[in-house]
Amino acid sequence: MRIVVVGQGGREHALLRALSESPSPPELFAFPGSDAIFELAQPVEADGLESLVAWMKAHAIDLCVAGEESYLVKDEGLANLCGRAGIPCWGPPKQAAMLEASKEFAKQFMDRHGVPTARAAVAETAEEAWELIGGQYPTVLKFDGLAAGKGVAVCPDEASAGEFLDEVFKEERFGKGGLLVEECLLGPEVSVFAAVSGPNHLVFTPARDYKRIGEGDEGPNTGGMGAVASRRLLDAELMARIERDIVVPTVRGLESDGLDYVGFLYFGLMLTADGPKVIEYNCRFGDPECQAVMPLVSGDLATFCLDGARGTLRPELLEFDDGWSVGVILASAGYPASSRSGDVIAGLDEVDGARVYHAGTRRNGDGRWETNGGRVLAVVAGAPTREEAVERAHAEAAKITFDGAQRRADIGRMHF
Ligand code: AMP
Ligand code: GLY
Repeated sequence: MRIVVVGQGGREHALLRALSESPSPPELFAFPGSDAIFELAQPVEADGLESLVAWMKAHAIDLCVAGEESYLVKDEGLANLCGRAGIPCWGPPKQAAMLEASKEFAKQFMDRHGVPTARAAVAETAEEAWELIGGQYPTVLKFDGLAAGKGVAVCPDEASAGEFLDEVFKEERFGKGGLLVEECLLGPEVSVFAAVSGPNHLVFTPARDYKRIGEGDEGPNTGGMGAVASRRLLDAELMARIERDIVVPTVRGLESDGLDYVGFLYFGLMLTADGPKVIEYNCRFGDPECQAVMPLVSGDLATFCLDGARGTLRPELLEFDDGWSVGVILASAGYPASSRSGDVIAGLDEVDGARVYHAGTRRNGDGRWETNGGRVLAVVAGAPTREEAVERAHAEAAKITFDGAQRRADIGRMHF
């Protein structure tokens, strides 16, 4: 089987590694890829979506796996273009990927299909937003479009709301678009993933993401500083409730709206006193959750995705380990406000009890790995208990050093 994985981060590195461990190892290709990814996959010679799909067609690719979301809604949409070329794609068509690309679309979808979520209304101008906020704080303001995780502000007071409204409507920092004014929910957050193919789904191992840069969840948001994953993260009753009240109505809703969903669907949930509620959908796996979850998945992921992309979901192809997995991110100096590239990374060869996934690295002129972005590496260790997995992940991560490296020492230690 010949597979192209689309994306270039740690998530795609983990997906490629998992695909490469399928019983009949597929021939792997990646676009746009990275130096580390190209140790597992061959590069695709393309410079845009159209040329990517033409390349896949010319090179008899059997399956396209969408790692990153941006390609799903770009131009005609990656899955739509694959569909026209007759290439199965593990990733949803553009119409369905609007669940991630438009918060207003997602909100209307959830309201229509009875999926529990925060109450919200749309404002087209700052004046409308002030009216909707109505002096109630905290309030949550969300730009209605893809904003690389920066389009959401949880505002404790009028001053912070004013700042964000200026960014959205005066500075148009995220481009043109409306704003959702949303009820502020309270509770721990959890990431739940399902593989979806039309009317069928399979819930994967849930994970918790650590979004803030600082220990104890202090400081600014990041792309994720680590993750802990386990079938036992949430008790069986809560998982069953999430599946019944959130996953099933979502999958049925996609089906009844004719949206033909295929691929991973990520439910960003908040466990409120009132039960689990959806904060956001993403039309892909989480990053860094994928790096923590994938080592717990075994079986034939390549055939699972290919059959799923063709319309048949076969849960019997996969097995899920019952243990725990902890992934610790090493970030570069200055992250998340900025990042520093060019710091040489030492100690990679000494890691023996963990998997290392590369997010922001490159090989320098001497062939050594160096930093190339904000989040640099994920070091992921598994064990039967959370405590053991935590100790191992941190001990292995500590072997890797580079100037300015940042790591949260509490990843995996705090449970809910
Ligand atoms: P999002 O980009 O939608 O994932 O939002 C980013 C973060 O903002 C989430 O992970 C939450 O921590 C927070 N957030 C989003 N919506 C709400 C809400 N309705 N209530 C409280 N916090 C929220
Ligand atoms: N871990 C958060 C995300 O992938 O969006």
